[in-house]
Amino acid sequence: MGPSGCGKSTVFKLISGLLEPSSGMINCDFFRESISYVFQDYRLLPWLSVYENVAVGLARSEGCRSDRDGLIKSVLFLVNMSSCSAMYPFQLSGGMQQRVGLARALVSKPELLLMDEPFSAVDGQTRKLLVEEFKQLKSELSMTTLIATHQFQDVLDLADQVVLLSASPATCLKVINVKSYIERSGEKALCDEMWKTLKRHVDSTLKNISS
Ligand SMILES: Nc1ncnc2c1ncn2[C@@H]1O[C@H](COP(=O)(O)OP(=O)(O)OP(=O)(O)O)[C@@H](O)[C@H]1O
Ligand SMILES: [Mg+2]
Repeated sequence: MGPSGCGKSTVFKLISGLLEPSSGMINCDFFRESISYVFQDYRLLPWLSVYENVAVGLARSEGCRSDRDGLIKSVLFLVNMSSCSAMYPFQLSGGMQQRVGLARALVSKPELLLMDEPFSAVDGQTRKLLVEEFKQLKSELSMTTLIATHQFQDVLDLADQVVLLSASPATCLKVINVKSYIERSGEKALCDEMWKTLKRHVDSTLKNISS
């Protein structure tokens, strides 16, 4: 979590190998093939059906045709989109497109899942539904998840640990262990602490944009 433009998406692109660092080094315990990315803006291919969009998440060489078919159907089932596999992105709501984006990322059975503001483009009720579904999924699949977000509620609902970043160029301001903090002081205190840490940086970002 950090102010807009501080570099959250850039960090994800560096971790996933979409960008190479111009200096410094990325230390990551996961192989690139075992990392999946759910983009901030879905990025479904409009000319492909839901089924075909999910298939894009599988390497071409991966498995025989029936194995691939089984995998795709099983992740569509996981994200509650089995009945929509023949539909095209323009026929889907925002929440449905987000589910397809998640299925495309899960189909390769990642060990590390990067989710960039996964619930920012959906309404509050759809968000609640997706969060519940995602919690269920996380308990079924063993994977590490990194989530970039602006929402304190995402931290409360989903995080074990939150890393607070400064305005650009981002540095790590604070790392908080969410569960133990909430047990000790409650959810409101955690939100207050996150806001107290970030406010100055959000302010300075806004001032830089307006000047
Ligand atoms: N391909 C690029 N080339 C050069 N600069 C870039 C590129 N992509 C992003 N930036 C710049 O890097 C900075 C960080 O951008 P990034 O998208 O990582 O921020 P963010 O923290 O994800 O913001 P938001 O919360 O708004 O999504 C911004 O100043 C942006 O203009
Ligand atoms: Mg971003």
